[in-house]
Amino acid sequence: MPSEKFKLAVLVSGRGSNLQAIIDSIEKNYLNAEISLVMSNVKDAYALERATKHGLECVFLDPKAFSNRNDYEQKMIDLLQSKSIELVCLAGFMRILGKKFIEAFPGKIINIHPSLLPAFPGLNVQKRALEHGAKYSGCTVHIVNEEVDGGPIILQSVVPIKDEDDTQSLSERILEQEHIIYPEAIKLIIENKIEFSGRRALRNKQGN
Ligand code: GRF
Repeated sequence: MPSEKFKLAVLVSGRGSNLQAIIDSIEKNYLNAEISLVMSNVKDAYALERATKHGLECVFLDPKAFSNRNDYEQKMIDLLQSKSIELVCLAGFMRILGKKFIEAFPGKIINIHPSLLPAFPGLNVQKRALEHGAKYSGCTVHIVNEEVDGGPIILQSVVPIKDEDDTQSLSERILEQEHIIYPEAIKLIIENKIEFSGRRALRNKQGN
C-alpha cells in the first residue's frame, strides 16, 4: 500500500539551490514527500522559477502589502495550514520569523545555515569564518526557535578551510554539503528517526 506523502513547504528568498536539492531528492524517490507550497518574500527570486519548472505551487507574499509583521505572518500561517503542511523548510529565506509563526508550527520548522553552529550565526558567515581564521566550517540543519540560528541541531557537515580559500570557494564547498545534509535531515524527520532530549537530537532507537 503506497504510504501517504509527507507534506513540505519550502520558504525561499533567492537562488533556491537548496529547494532544488529537495526537489531532486523527491524526484529520485529518496524522500517520500511532496512540496505542497513554495513561498517567497521576494518577487523575482530564482527559486520561484525552479518551482514553476517542476510544476510546484508557489506564491509570492509581498511584505510591503501588509501593515505589520503580525499580519504578514498570519497570512503565511493561513496559507500553510490550508495546505496541511507537516514540515516548513527554510531554504535561504531572508526574514526573521516571529513568535506567532514559530508557535503555529512547534518543532516543525527547520533551517539550513552555512556555518557550524553555534559558531557564526547571522549573515555573511562564510566570510566571517574565513576572516576569523577558523580551520573548519560547514553547515547545520537545525530546528527554528525564537533565537536566530539558535535552535536544536539536527545534522551538521564539516568543511575544512584551506589556506587558498576565499569566500566564494569556501561558500561553494559548504553549499555542496548543504545539498546533501538538508535532504538527509528531512528524511530523518519524515521517517520519525530522531527524538529530542533537551536540545539534543538523538537517533531514535526504533529507527536506524
Ligand atoms: C544557503 O547558503 C543557506 O545555507 C542560507 O542561504 C543560502 C541559500 O541558498 N541559509 P539557496 O537559495 O538555497 O541557493
